[in-house]
Amino acid sequence: MKFKGRDIISIKDFTRAEIDYILEIAQAMEALAKTGSNMLRGKILATLFFEASTRTRLSFESAMHKLGGSTIGFAEAKITSVKKGENLADTIRVVENYADVIALRHPLEGSARLAAEFAQIPIINGGSGAEEHPTQALLDLYTILKEMGRIDGLNIALVGDLRYGRTVHSLSYALSLYNVKLYLVSPELLRMRREVLDTIKEKIRVVQKAAIEEVLPKIDVLYVTRIQKERFADMAEYAKVKGAYRIGLDLLENAKKDLVIMHPLPRVDEIADEVDETPHAKYFQQVWNGVVMRMALLALILGATE
Ligand code: CP
Repeated sequence: MKFKGRDIISIKDFTRAEIDYILEIAQAMEALAKTGSNMLRGKILATLFFEASTRTRLSFESAMHKLGGSTIGFAEAKITSVKKGENLADTIRVVENYADVIALRHPLEGSARLAAEFAQIPIINGGSGAEEHPTQALLDLYTILKEMGRIDGLNIALVGDLRYGRTVHSLSYALSLYNVKLYLVSPELLRMRREVLDTIKEKIRVVQKAAIEEVLPKIDVLYVTRIQKERFADMAEYAKVKGAYRIGLDLLENAKKDLVIMHPLPRVDEIADEVDETPHAKYFQQVWNGVVMRMALLALILGATE
């Protein structure tokens, strides 16, 4: 298994054995996340975020600092030379002179793959349009494993915007490497993309539903996503699906006692605040898990751990 120097563009580029190994390394990073380490001293991470982010950018930066490395970067394109017309390929060929690894978020699908073609240093996809968000999928798997003690054998529901949601695309591909039953719950308009569905249906049992009430009593993990207003070209379409799901205490009366509720965040109104106080809510634990997972990925890619 080789990780040093590797790009992380799509979760599909990884085997189950590789993912299981990454999960092991993340677990080993828990202690270092508290004590700190000099494992990546002298190494520089560049975070190039052409699209809004709180968790992905800051958790990558936090992970790098916790391992003794440093960070440079930007959080919006308008303060960079992209504003003057510089393209992504040139931006990458410049920044690779300043850093050892690049974490990139970009609104265009295919952007991370394109960046990797031009870069001599590893590129980590921090979200490529509505396409994929592979490091989120890895931290989601880690959260499921930590909370449930296993991934195999679980019934998992992905709820909300399955059409434009990059986190659920990557997570679906990742879960298809495990023995799970996947419920895809969305309005008709936001059903899972055909290319994702076709790939995962060959490997695992998949059930598509519109009503969350039908699946709730059967599931072990409920993964809720935001309906992403910013991805709709037509606001009339957004109006039809806005607020389609809201997880509240009333709904949870029919859930398993040990149901785990996850959300990649940010949330708007799809999980009621009162759910935060229940033992089901694990979305803020996901945030911590994002730091340890990104520590693991940086350490592996920069060759500091094997
Ligand atoms: N989960 C996630 O990608 O959050 P951000 O958009 O804040 O990075």
